[in-house]
Amino acid sequence: MAKFSVILPAAGSSSRFGQKQKKVFVDLAGRPVWLRTVEHFSNRPDVIQLILVLAEDDIEWFKEKFRPNLAFLDLEIVAGGAQRADSVERGLARVSPEADFVAVHDAARPLLAEKWIDRVFAAAIANDAAILATPITSTIKRAAGQQQVIAETVPRDHLWAAQTPQVFRTSILRAAYQSRRGFSGTDEAQLVERIGGKVQLVECSAANLKITSPEDLSIAAALLPTLPKKSSLRSLHPFSDEDPLGL
Ligand code: CTP
Ligand code: MG
Repeated sequence: MAKFSVILPAAGSSSRFGQKQKKVFVDLAGRPVWLRTVEHFSNRPDVIQLILVLAEDDIEWFKEKFRPNLAFLDLEIVAGGAQRADSVERGLARVSPEADFVAVHDAARPLLAEKWIDRVFAAAIANDAAILATPITSTIKRAAGQQQVIAETVPRDHLWAAQTPQVFRTSILRAAYQSRRGFSGTDEAQLVERIGGKVQLVECSAANLKITSPEDLSIAAALLPTLPKKSSLRSLHPFSDEDPLGL
């Protein structure tokens, strides 16, 4: 079985969230966002390592506050950096030499389903690099500078919104970061694209959203009950309609 290390960047400042608490620490339907995210990976037999990247200033507080949860999780905690890519780079430095693949998943993206992870992990095994993404359905406008006036309509054919997990053969992600030289992309795929790597898009539901604004937290709470259930339950009820999103 291929072995995966999972890096969960959670070291951002939540500036667009604009609340007292950072978005990864807030409660979503009774459990903190970061914990919901981690739990999608913690019981998988193909995951050999979980690395949570936190802002240096949050680490002591976090370990104290979530001590009861941490007692049940085999989680490595690493200090992050100023940009998301800096945080992932620090996580990557801790990835086990045993890992065939590295999956990077935003801690602020708690609405995963087991089958979406299965799908992107399988695509990474087949193609060396794969990410979850959702096709753009809106009509996209580019504004002219700071003014809210339309400069152009961007044709949406072949446009996808990148999500996470983003999964790479370990040697490929290491090579991508070695040639990073300060570049600050907003995802890992960009770094792999820069070294000429091909990255497979794996279609996922838009429900795999990243919490950015407070409104997203309400949307996430509303979407929670609509997520596809675990396969063990599906196999008990082979004819039930448990996947209203069709993905
Ligand atoms: N992240 C990180 N280190 C950073 C910046 C971001 O680990 N220096 C993480 C965030 O914690 C989040 C994920 O990367 O889980 C996606 O980033 P984003 O949604 O931009 O989160 P923030 O940077 O925290 O939010 P904002 O941009 O609104 O400040
Ligand atoms: Mg950010």
